[in-house]
Amino acid sequence: MDHDFWAERWALGEIGFHRSTPHWALDRHWASVSAPTDAPILVPLCGKSLDLHWLRARHRPIVGVELDPRAVSAFFDEWPGMSRDELEVSTLPTGLIRYAHQGIEIHQGDFFAFEAGPYGAFDHFYDRAALIALPFDLRQRYLDQLVSLLAPGANGLLITFEYEQIHMDGPPFSVLHEEIVGFHGLDFERLEVRDVLEHHPGMRAKGLTALTECVYLVSKP
Ligand SMILES: C[S@@+](CC[C@H](N)C(=O)[O-])C[C@H]1O[C@@H](n2cnc3c(N)ncnc32)[C@H](O)[C@@H]1O
Repeated sequence: MDHDFWAERWALGEIGFHRSTPHWALDRHWASVSAPTDAPILVPLCGKSLDLHWLRARHRPIVGVELDPRAVSAFFDEWPGMSRDELEVSTLPTGLIRYAHQGIEIHQGDFFAFEAGPYGAFDHFYDRAALIALPFDLRQRYLDQLVSLLAPGANGLLITFEYEQIHMDGPPFSVLHEEIVGFHGLDFERLEVRDVLEHHPGMRAKGLTALTECVYLVSKP
């Protein structure tokens, strides 16, 4: 997907991927990551996800990366009780713009240009609707960039969808278990597979008759 695609989604408010509650997999599986409270958590392609707040209640700092400035603005505008004057804003050498407030920082710009900067390398990450937002030809590149930002022994959660791609164009793309285990540079342990079609009426309306969400514990050797 090119940058214009996402700019248009945010401009038109076509953000069906955004949820009004934290993702169910966090309560069920985040503990498997065993991240200490002072561990920075990398959240690629974070949108304005409320999962950032869920993670912030447990760790500091949460480091999101998001392309679209509207998404970043919306995230901080929707932070209950926060005033815009409290937001720290700085431009980084990479050209990304860092917005920070009380334990959450979002780096606005292209994830492929993001650098870990003061964090050196991350020990933990969270990917919900990031890998599966990307078409096949970008997915290994995305994981290569992720691997380059992680320390040896790092781990995180990855959440994917599986469905018959013939019924619907992505995003979200169907990323099958066979594709996942074929990615190089990371090890994947599938923790749960859940039938979620009834929770996604928009995807059912596009013709899907089956939709599963898969949660992986991902580790860098
Ligand atoms: C499907 S949404 C998921 C957002 C978030 N993870 C969530 O769960 O709500 C994918 C997001 O990735 C952003 N994005 C797409 N390509 C990107 C890139 N190259 N760098 C940073 N963000 C990107 C889009 O603007 C969009 O907000």
